[in-house]
Amino acid sequence: MARKKIALIGAGQLGGNLALLAAEKELGDVVLFDIPAAEGMAKGKALDIAQLLPVDGFDARLSGTTSYDDVAGADVCIITAGIPRKPGMSREDLLGTNVKIITEVATNLKRTCPTAFCIVVSNPLDAMVYAFKKLTGFPKQQVVGMAGVLDSARFRAFVAMELHVSVEDVQAFVLGGHGDDMVPLTRCCSVGGIPVTELLPKDRIDAIVERTRKAGGELVALYKTGSAYYAPAAAAVSMAESYLRDKKRVLPCAAYLEGEYGIHGYYFGVPVVIGAGGVERVLEVKLSDEDRALVLKSLESVKKTAAETKL
Ligand code: APR
Repeated sequence: MARKKIALIGAGQLGGNLALLAAEKELGDVVLFDIPAAEGMAKGKALDIAQLLPVDGFDARLSGTTSYDDVAGADVCIITAGIPRKPGMSREDLLGTNVKIITEVATNLKRTCPTAFCIVVSNPLDAMVYAFKKLTGFPKQQVVGMAGVLDSARFRAFVAMELHVSVEDVQAFVLGGHGDDMVPLTRCCSVGGIPVTELLPKDRIDAIVERTRKAGGELVALYKTGSAYYAPAAAAVSMAESYLRDKKRVLPCAAYLEGEYGIHGYYFGVPVVIGAGGVERVLEVKLSDEDRALVLKSLESVKKTAAETKL
């Protein structure tokens, strides 16, 4: 069976880590695409990682390119093209620049990769994935946004740090848009099957929720020159893997909703099943009145940014 082809659109910090993780998981051959000004970066990262693989004993072909002809026919496209945040910026501040970039990317991928499973990572995420779907006209199963896996991983990491337990035993998920008003569902967080509310006092849980919401900004302030890339790359690769290996994992992702959770025509972070059919199902959980109010607030932000794309 031929190897799968994974196209990474954007060979920056995220692109490089995506290439490394995808190659080390042997998900397929990896093509790093970037604009001509970053050609050396795309080609250099491909070559560097190709030289790492003999050390670790994994097989994948890697290449760097500035031509969409080289990404043609990809099975999976992960889109990180765009500028990242700098200190003091919100994700929404990126919209003007990144909507132009996503327009160019969508136009080219529609032509060259019409059947690829597309994972959008560029920020502001909910608006970028909305724009990408509108511009390509791809079916909703084929276009998904990466946010919830990352936000949930952050929540899980903070709970594990607080309790000094393995991250493996912490389950959690975050609903809503990828902004500061995302909705970490504490009710659904458990540690080894025990509700977190039985293990931590309310004020500690509230502090973890707040840190999760601002976790992206915490990293922007530390890095100063850009935003997070290790954890976001791992999150996107877990989604690609679930698709390519038909794992049917339940992952919180930005999915296009047509009535689920009472939301119509927007991308919003919800638990979905990802398998060979792409976004195969949206799982609906019952929300408390308090959760619903937070979801509605997050939805307002998502709608506002989507409207700003003017698509
Ligand atoms: N087509 C392809 N790539 C592009 C384009 C374009 N039109 N315009 C810019 N790029 C490339 C840049 O050249 C750069 O190499 O996108 C890459 C972005 O990389 P970084 O600046 O290192 O940013 P990164 O940390 O990878 O984040 C990328 O993902 O999480 C989001 O907020 C983040 O929007 C940002 C994106």
